[in-house]
Amino acid sequence: MKKELTILGIESTCDETSAALLVGGKNLVSNVIYSQIEEHKKYHGVVPELASRAHAAKIATVIAEALGDQPLDYVAFASGPGLPGGLMVGRVAAETLAQFKQVPLIGVNHLEGHLFACDFEGTQAQDRLQFPLVALVVSGGHTELWYVKGYGNYKVLGRTRDDAAGEAFDKVAKLLGLSYPGGPQVSKQALLGKRDAINFPRPLLPGTWEFSFSGIKTAVSYYLRDHKTVSVPDVCASFEAAMVDTLVTKTLLAAKKYKVRHIAVGGGVAANAFLRQEMQARGAAQGVSVQFVERKLSSDNAAMIALCAYKKLQYAEKTGQPLQANINIDPNMKVRNWGK
Ligand code: KG4
Ligand code: ZN
Repeated sequence: MKKELTILGIESTCDETSAALLVGGKNLVSNVIYSQIEEHKKYHGVVPELASRAHAAKIATVIAEALGDQPLDYVAFASGPGLPGGLMVGRVAAETLAQFKQVPLIGVNHLEGHLFACDFEGTQAQDRLQFPLVALVVSGGHTELWYVKGYGNYKVLGRTRDDAAGEAFDKVAKLLGLSYPGGPQVSKQALLGKRDAINFPRPLLPGTWEFSFSGIKTAVSYYLRDHKTVSVPDVCASFEAAMVDTLVTKTLLAAKKYKVRHIAVGGGVAANAFLRQEMQARGAAQGVSVQFVERKLSSDNAAMIALCAYKKLQYAEKTGQPLQANINIDPNMKVRNWGK
């Protein structure tokens, strides 16, 4: 493979429009992220139609800024899962650029991207992931637990049956009158409260690796309904404790069951300080190392998409296996194996 392979990544699956340039599979030259938070704030959640319009309005300038006048070898984009409108904008932009530059197009699974984001240390991709591992991908749209043998080799253990973890944070924030996105707001309030003030449920769903967070959210709404005066910090601290306890307990149980010594955590909720602290501490007590994504790359970004494309290309070249290009967009895309 050409040593200094240059890949432009594009991300547009939800509410961030992003483009990034990765050189040699290592050097992150640019990672431009336009966040649509202001557009969605007053609705306390992502409005798909507004998201599509904002992607369409911004994607050309974001790409131009990320690419500059650099030469290009591949264009990679997130082809799913995600909102259909955003995916279409990303695909059209990526394909147009690829045809114009006469370079190949590669589609990447957005959730795989969140795992690969753990490899970055600042602007360098470092192969920080140690295999085999159990991965927790935890964001506003998804919560999934995987057993991962290597790059591109996954066994999905479980997903959420209802709300994603980030979605639960956002909904609870809305109930409390806190602004969107709710995760950082709830987390900030939680620092001032008592984690054992209210005993919210921990839905561990024994016997499965699935998650279910709607019950915790409902318990919070009943608590608010039944109490005239509440301490917002106590509600936030107790809710966060229930969420984090559930995520950490299940992830560590999976690590034990699959006899792995490494855990990786990616996605927007991986920015949560209490989750980071608890997973590290309880992981260490179990002899398991935990690789969190750096905070800066926890939410949606194109750097992770470019890196995932690079790893796929590298694998295809090393093994002579055909490249899994995945360029058809799929809003409900599941992770598929392409590596060993
Ligand atoms: O990965 P992401 O940027 O977008 C999706 O792919 O969904 O994740 C966004 C989600 C939002 O639900 C947001 O509230 C949550 O990540 N989030 C947090 C924190 N920061 C962001 N949740 C809990 N604690 C945080 N500090
Ligand atoms: Zn995401």
